[in-house]
Amino acid sequence: MPDKASKKRIDRDSVRNTLTVAIGLSLVCSILVASTAVLLKPRQERNEEQFRQRIILEVASLMEPGGDIETLFASIEPRLVDLASGDYVDSIDAGTFDALAMANDPELGVAVPTELDTGNIQRRAKYAPVYLVSADDKVEQIILPVYGSGLWGKMYGYLALQPDGTTVTGLRFYEHIETPGLGDQVDAPRWREQWVGKKIHGADGTPRIEVIRGAVATNGDPMETRYQVDGLSGATLTGRGVTNLVRYWTGPHGFGPYLEKLARSEDST
Ligand SMILES: Cc1cc2nc3c(=O)[nH]c(=O)nc-3n(C[C@H](O)[C@H](O)[C@H](O)COP(=O)(O)O)c2cc1C
Repeated sequence: MPDKASKKRIDRDSVRNTLTVAIGLSLVCSILVASTAVLLKPRQERNEEQFRQRIILEVASLMEPGGDIETLFASIEPRLVDLASGDYVDSIDAGTFDALAMANDPELGVAVPTELDTGNIQRRAKYAPVYLVSADDKVEQIILPVYGSGLWGKMYGYLALQPDGTTVTGLRFYEHIETPGLGDQVDAPRWREQWVGKKIHGADGTPRIEVIRGAVATNGDPMETRYQVDGLSGATLTGRGVTNLVRYWTGPHGFGPYLEKLARSEDST
């Protein structure tokens, strides 16, 4: 006959007890994971925001080693642009407007006409933020968010231009899934540096900039080579994606109307 102690041990090992412990433990663990996620969310959002700000500072060559991102970014003015008219929209806060999320909004998103959709974007928000870098009340650079398809997926970045709306001061991607050692060479500083000084638009105002196959001729006609950037060795398709997305965002369905207005106001000053 089992004594009292062994009966108690048998009860502890019962199916009911095992289930109670397992369910209890799962509950405690899920509460712990959920509350950690909730507690860390603001910090995660702040880190994401700081990362975006650092990229914008970098594309404008304003990032200083050891510099405080928030302090440096405070000198940059975000504005929202109505892409169709090229006018600023002041009724919505440019700093918090999420253009990527708004692309699918029935009110605030528009379909990109197939014949104009060189970046394979399909839908975009009606409005887009731009970031103005000024000195002595004069705009020195305009930073535009740009995105579109590379070989393997969407590439997201920023293009910085002079106030003439066509001369490049920087291009920087912050998210893509191109292959390490091939397509990811879009991140290589030497490749990015080539963009500085290149012209986006031809004489008729349409985007002509192109990541070509091979290297830009050093003794080529400067009126042609100013629209050309070296190809990415073994990654022609990623390079083509960059050409197409930059052309879309600087073209008539992207920031084209805004850039035109900017260039006109620059001419008249
Ligand atoms: C595993 C693998 C990964 C590749 N990744 C890329 C890439 O990220 N970007 C790209 O343009 N081409 C990539 N390619 C090569 C393309 O398939 C294509 O061959 C190349 O873009 C052609 O460029 P090229 O004419 O300069 O060689 C990859 C190929 C393989 C096999």
